[in-house]
Amino acid sequence: LPCHLDGRWLALDEARVPVLDRGFMFGDGIYEVVPVYRRRLFRFDEHMLRLERSLTAVRIPNPHGRDAWLALMRELVERVAEAGGGDEQLLYLQITRGVTPRVHGMPAGLKPTVFLMSTPHHPPGPEQRHRGASCITHADFRWSRGDIKSTSLLGNVMARQLAMDAGADETILLREMPHGGVTVSEGSSSNVWIVLEGALIGVPPSGHTLAGIRLELLQSLCEETGIACHLRPIGEAELYAADEILISSAGRELLPVTRLDGEPVGHGAGRGKPGPVYARLHEAYEQAKL
Ligand code: PDD
Repeated sequence: LPCHLDGRWLALDEARVPVLDRGFMFGDGIYEVVPVYRRRLFRFDEHMLRLERSLTAVRIPNPHGRDAWLALMRELVERVAEAGGGDEQLLYLQITRGVTPRVHGMPAGLKPTVFLMSTPHHPPGPEQRHRGASCITHADFRWSRGDIKSTSLLGNVMARQLAMDAGADETILLREMPHGGVTVSEGSSSNVWIVLEGALIGVPPSGHTLAGIRLELLQSLCEETGIACHLRPIGEAELYAADEILISSAGRELLPVTRLDGEPVGHGAGRGKPGPVYARLHEAYEQAKL
């Protein structure tokens, strides 16, 4: 499939970056993952805002204005669709600081390396949604700038592998608070939600939780469907006591967590099954995609 590297269109397996690119040397770059439904970009403005925030935080100049990004991403979608990549895609955008001899400080005047690719988007189907995700928990051992969508993802990679090792799908990261108590930060590549007494509760963005694009989306879907929704810290005990647990991300959209640390999630007859709040939000999400 075609991809875009520094102003050129080429086949993905022909794209090459110099070894002194700071993305390779230091993980010195930022990225975005943007869903495409029926060849249309989903939540483009929100992704651009986050991209701009990430770039500013790490002092990489934005190589394109919004209109140029939009044109580039639309062209990628069309090229990939025409090449047989389908109408449902996940766009990956990456900007690294550029190529320079290896020094830790940020050299001035570098030309950022800009890369875009697209992969087929297969959101969870009925079977996977019915089965739900199985999650484990682990101490959050990552840095405290998780608000930056950085390509430095070793902590996330290690966290996800712990789930793989346990035969689970995702690792929910828990953090000791400076003044005591343990709270949920996020999944290795997802945001975490719980349902308590019919209300959806999500974790507010901080240095430990990426401001997922689905954070605002789910809040507005809750408003539409009459579900109470708050962003506030989620305590460890609340996670284990929750009626429902959900995870959200660009690729997985919204998924119910049906097992936590090997135990079924929820209470009574609904134990270990996707819950009613999930079902309503899934419907609303499908509508939002149209
Ligand atoms: N990951 N938290 C982390 C650490 C993530 O990596 C992601 C997404 C999210 C959810 O954000 P959003 O709703 O904007 O996708 C939360 C992307 C999809 C990835 O790394 O592939």
